[in-house]
Amino acid sequence: MSVVPDVALTNGVSIPQLGFGVFQIPPEETRDAVLTAFEVGYRHIDTAEMYGNERGVGEALRASGLTREEVFVTSKLNNGYHRRDDVLRAADQSLADLGVDQMDMFLIHWPLPTIDVDYVETWKAMIEVYRAGKARAIGVSNFQVPHLQRLLDETDHVPAVNQIEVHPYLTNESVRAFGAQHGIATEAWSPIAQGLVLGDPVLVEIAERVGRTPAQVTLRWHLQRGDIVFPKSVTRSRVEENFALFDFELGDAEMSALGALNRDQRTGPDPDTFARVPA
Ligand SMILES: NC(=O)c1ccc[n+]([C@@H]2O[C@H](COP(=O)([O-])OP(=O)(O)OC[C@H]3O[C@@H](n4cnc5c(N)ncnc54)[C@H](OP(=O)(O)O)[C@@H]3O)[C@@H](O)[C@H]2O)c1
Repeated sequence: MSVVPDVALTNGVSIPQLGFGVFQIPPEETRDAVLTAFEVGYRHIDTAEMYGNERGVGEALRASGLTREEVFVTSKLNNGYHRRDDVLRAADQSLADLGVDQMDMFLIHWPLPTIDVDYVETWKAMIEVYRAGKARAIGVSNFQVPHLQRLLDETDHVPAVNQIEVHPYLTNESVRAFGAQHGIATEAWSPIAQGLVLGDPVLVEIAERVGRTPAQVTLRWHLQRGDIVFPKSVTRSRVEENFALFDFELGDAEMSALGALNRDQRTGPDPDTFARVPA
């Protein structure tokens, strides 16, 4: 039994609340990084076509000795593949690159609300991917409340998750609350803001008080808020540190103090205007 709790998604599928993200891990280093994560105990990997390292994730899966059922694998539809036929092709390509018959989760990576393909059409094609059995669950990423509302109004399938930027400097409350209201689990990307929050004096003081590192306190804060996280690291000691979150708890005062650090500060693009598609 893993120490990591599962989160039950609306369609009955369970996802480990703590996983391992592979954004910015070079393709040739991905196999070893993921194998290290498996050794430490992670059983949930978050990748994307955009990261260029799905093959490395697949190599690690095969080299790990773990069964396919033991690992939860998420990938994402790249920008530039939002048209129906491209969605279907991209899903097949991700399956081939990962070397699996089925993804556990497949997400629209960005809504791209300003491009000429409507993300509602893209979502309908994602539903086809789901109904064809190519993903056990489907969801979205970087969707704002109006984007989610349109999916609810115009289709018959609620996204299982919305993967959005969340950390103490961007608590993203309204999008999280909308998700909670509609059964859409929140996945918090860049959970330690790529390191930006770790020197914050409030966080450092709490970390000293509870005898944990700032990264552990931040990740624990996410877990206690109920969000799903997958910190990235290519450093074994940090991969271990980021997994050691289940033998301490933050009190209400500490939870509130971290939440109060919000300054609506993004480290990544604004989903309402982001429109970059690969050439
Ligand atoms: N859907 C999206 O649009 C989107 C966008 C961004 C990210 N994501 C997902 O979210 C995952 C996590 O986000 P992220 O990779 O951007 O950032 P992150 O996990 O918040 O931070 C990763 C950075 O922090 C460092 N780090 C990790 N653990 C640490 C620790 N315990 N102490 C000090 N530094 C530490 C890592 O360095 P080293 O690696 O050098 O150790 C790396 O530079 C991604 O890998 C990806 O799967 C999704």
